[in-house]
Amino acid sequence: MNQNEFEDANQRMWDELAPVHYKSYGLDRLRRGETLLEDIQLAEVGEVRGKSLLHLQCHIGSDTLSWALRGAEVVGVDFSGQSIEFARRLADELKLKAEFVHSNIYDIEKHLNRQFDIVYTSQGVLCWLKDIKEWARLIARYLKPGGLFYIMESHPIQNVFNNIKSGPLEIIYPYFHREQPTKWDDNKPDYSDSTFIYNKPSYEWIWTLSDIVNSLISAGLIIESLNEYDKAFDQIFPDMVRDSDGWWYYPDYRGKLPLIFTLRAIKK
Ligand SMILES: C[S@@+](CC[C@H](N)C(=O)[O-])C[C@H]1O[C@@H](n2cnc3c(N)ncnc32)[C@H](O)[C@@H]1O
Repeated sequence: MNQNEFEDANQRMWDELAPVHYKSYGLDRLRRGETLLEDIQLAEVGEVRGKSLLHLQCHIGSDTLSWALRGAEVVGVDFSGQSIEFARRLADELKLKAEFVHSNIYDIEKHLNRQFDIVYTSQGVLCWLKDIKEWARLIARYLKPGGLFYIMESHPIQNVFNNIKSGPLEIIYPYFHREQPTKWDDNKPDYSDSTFIYNKPSYEWIWTLSDIVNSLISAGLIIESLNEYDKAFDQIFPDMVRDSDGWWYYPDYRGKLPLIFTLRAIKK
């Protein structure tokens, strides 16, 4: 299979997951006017009212519309047509102004020709990307001078561990990038709806923290902050437990192992 065929297989998976997540993402909170964004994201991105915001890999638009609720003028992009349909349906239902573009992010220049105050992406995005340098170039391309790029994402170190087995963590996967993606066909329950099992293969690329940071620096962005946290937005390992704050922690490794990172960068 070539890189495009890996992407096509992933796109088919996200099309199938869109209706599942439309039911399992807790969208009733949005319907009640509550945000689905995490406390960390709200604090680190800051005020968005009146600002234009481009959301890369927006899926069913739950974060995109959460930013719209806070007054941002939002555009979401995703290559899953099903996800974009659900995002548009949700925006209509919530009567929120939002534009959703159905496109692979690598083809986005065919569809979008303006710049934004904020480019945002979050939670489970980088492993689907075949080219991190081109991703960073597009972020810089779509930011106005002085604009903010923000990401909250799984920490790449979590990729190296056996994520099925209980007990002490065991390193079984490489940390460093390889051109060939890893094939996943372990029939793991979905992260949001454990009753749903996708039973065809998907393909993930690994990007190290230095790959991510260096791609943004090479694209001309200035890194303002890089933070690491010992908690996660999903249950990545079987022994993790959800705390009353809504975050997932690994009791044996609390304070010892980063599970997510956030990054703020500014375009000169
Ligand atoms: C985990 S989801 C996005 C996370 C988002 N925070 C959420 O939970 O709603 C990953 C999304 O990336 C999209 N995606 C993956 N590769 C893409 C690409 N090359 N271009 C555009 N979208 C892509 C998928 O369709 C999917 O909607």
